[in-house]
Amino acid sequence: MDLSTTYMGLKLAHPLIPGASPLCDDLDGVRRLEDAGAAAVTLRSLFEEQIAREQMSTFAHTTPHGESFAEALSYFPSADGFVLGPEEYLEHLRKVKAAVKVPVIASLNGTSLGGWLRYAALMEQAGADALELNVYAINTDLEEDAATLETRILGMVRSIKGAVKIPVAVKLSPFYTSVAHFAKRLEEACADGLVLFNRFYQPDIDVDELQTVRSLVLSTSQELPLRLRWLAILSGRVRPSLAVSGGVHTHLDAIKAVMAGAQAVQVVSALLKHGPGYLKPMREELERWLVEHEYESLSQMCGSMSLRNSPDPAAYERGNYMMILQSWRQA
Ligand SMILES: Cc1cc2nc3c(=O)[nH]c(=O)nc-3n(C[C@H](O)[C@H](O)[C@H](O)COP(=O)(O)O)c2cc1C
Repeated sequence: MDLSTTYMGLKLAHPLIPGASPLCDDLDGVRRLEDAGAAAVTLRSLFEEQIAREQMSTFAHTTPHGESFAEALSYFPSADGFVLGPEEYLEHLRKVKAAVKVPVIASLNGTSLGGWLRYAALMEQAGADALELNVYAINTDLEEDAATLETRILGMVRSIKGAVKIPVAVKLSPFYTSVAHFAKRLEEACADGLVLFNRFYQPDIDVDELQTVRSLVLSTSQELPLRLRWLAILSGRVRPSLAVSGGVHTHLDAIKAVMAGAQAVQVVSALLKHGPGYLKPMREELERWLVEHEYESLSQMCGSMSLRNSPDPAAYERGNYMMILQSWRQA
């Protein structure tokens, strides 16, 4: 069975990729993923704040907003609170690249247009086959409108695209007023891929201690439908390749994502839970399912459930919404 797929121009043996996470923090882990058949590997993110921290002392003394910036940085982990510092990240990337044959995707995570973006070119020089730009941001400025912040992200993408030759994917959150319009604008900014979606790790409140409580809860398959919806809406309508991230735990989840239009299927929680070796049975089950259902190839299935030919995807969505609300019957 031909499971191959092309993601951002990278020819992959199949769509299953470990997403950005600690899974690739050591070479042993990376090799285990490759042994389990990972089609590519994604490194954890290097954060803008880590890079900025290095420059902070100069910045704090030379700009009018330096002190508030320094104060903001105090909310973030200290330099040694990050698993890999900026230089270590590049060194690790070089080693990962030398250790495996599959494509290596590096990740940058930040929210502003600035000098930190030069790390995109450094990652390319260190051997990255592609970059993922995670634009996780919570916009709290009452004066900043959606267009301004989207324009900033587009500026970041353009800046990186101007500095590197390797493909660049943007990992988005679902919280844009118009995901569809923003996807189109990212296409115009020459993004090669869109990763749908980021997952948020919101703190809870401890009502007795009056403290916020941080926790990392791994995903479940219940998070997939939001991704399926947007894959189906965007598939075939925008040029960038589409990858799913969030809620893929079984081969059936992966099949749904591919049917909705994903060219790559990122998996993290399932691999953290079951170990890197879990990728192998996932791929085998995926293949078995395709054979049993008489597909000739994975690409034959890709986008088969997309809404590209729907005369009105929004009406389809809204119709679905109304029907589900009307169908509830109290027991
Ligand atoms: C422990 C952990 C660390 C992660 N680190 C990163 C990261 O550095 N950069 C990033 O873009 N996403 C990171 N993610 C998010 C994952 O790449 C992925 O988007 C998310 O876990 C949803 O996929 P899943 O449902 O398969 O877990 C991390 C997730 C976990 C659980």
